[in-house]
Amino acid sequence: MHKKLFIPGPTEVRDDILNAQAQPMIGHRMKAFTALYTGIVSKLQELLQTKNFVTVLTASGTALMEAAIRNCVSKDVLCCTYGAFSERWLKIAKACDRNADAIALDWGKVVKPEMIEEKLKAKKYEAVTVVQNETSTGTRAPIEEIAEVMKKYPDVLLLVDTVSSLMGDKIEIEKLGIDVCVSSSQKCFALPPGLAVGIVSDKALKKAENVPGKGHYLNLLDLKAYFDKKGQTPTTPAISLMWAMDKQLEKIKAEGMDNRYKRHLEMAHYVQDWAKKHFDLYTEAGYESVTVTCINNTKGISVADLNTELGKRGYAISNGYGKIKEQTFRIAHMGDLTLDEVKEVIKNIDDILKL
Ligand SMILES: Cc1ncc(COP(=O)(O)O)c(C=O)c1O
Repeated sequence: MHKKLFIPGPTEVRDDILNAQAQPMIGHRMKAFTALYTGIVSKLQELLQTKNFVTVLTASGTALMEAAIRNCVSKDVLCCTYGAFSERWLKIAKACDRNADAIALDWGKVVKPEMIEEKLKAKKYEAVTVVQNETSTGTRAPIEEIAEVMKKYPDVLLLVDTVSSLMGDKIEIEKLGIDVCVSSSQKCFALPPGLAVGIVSDKALKKAENVPGKGHYLNLLDLKAYFDKKGQTPTTPAISLMWAMDKQLEKIKAEGMDNRYKRHLEMAHYVQDWAKKHFDLYTEAGYESVTVTCINNTKGISVADLNTELGKRGYAISNGYGKIKEQTFRIAHMGDLTLDEVKEVIKNIDDILKL
């Protein structure tokens, strides 16, 4: 039996989108692919209201996190950490031999603009990394306020991970001045895993011209040059996934971005109200994610057992991430899920736990 996914990625993919992948193959140097790929890029620019360079890479989102570091930082980067994925960016920067300093906060907390400003006043950094939606802790960073502070430091690039929020939570990339915005197909896009989406500012591209060690596959300038010249990708892309993405972007357009954001907020409020009534939120109050709720297991239930029982009924939620497994659990409300579906899984949890 298929378990409906209330986990923070991969998310449910609707049948028509899955089926869109099953088409006879085309060559990635054919006109048909150029039409498909340039169409996807224009649709993303339209939906996200940006004229910035958009690349859809055959890789998972982590690859573009690494690309952001490799292309935008030659030496010094400031990484804000408050969960597993923000810590990942610090690890990537170090693995790429960059000098990475951290604003290291406890999990569940979130970086504030004044913390970043204090660091920027004290040292010259080339970029700051922020995870806008920390999936491991259900936290939403105040990206709008952070962006305001960053505007005072125009030479410092703002690199933002929106892997588990883009297309579900409103992020005005260009207005906020996000220089590299990174996302993955398997979250709020409600697509299968395998594609990473990057939105890159002119400022970031300009900076990349003078950054050594960009590597090959993740060289944003090469990706841009190939796109500008041919409307294609330099290497063989996951064409089947691109068909699914093209169809999904049409569906998202038909839903309307504002409706999509509203649906995500409604689902988040429903789950968070329920969690506060029966448990507690792990997340710092006022910074709750719109796409995933991380719940403090105040009742000491066995999350693993709960998930086994839910599985028998055709649902899956997520245990806590890494070191907060069992201490917390997560219910994702992202992608194409509806409020009714969220109510359905909550009703089943109530029933199993006799709440
Ligand atoms: C916030 C965040 N960043 C990065 C990643 C890594 O993305 P991917 O698995 O697509 O590389 C994830 C995956 O769950 C995530 O939630």
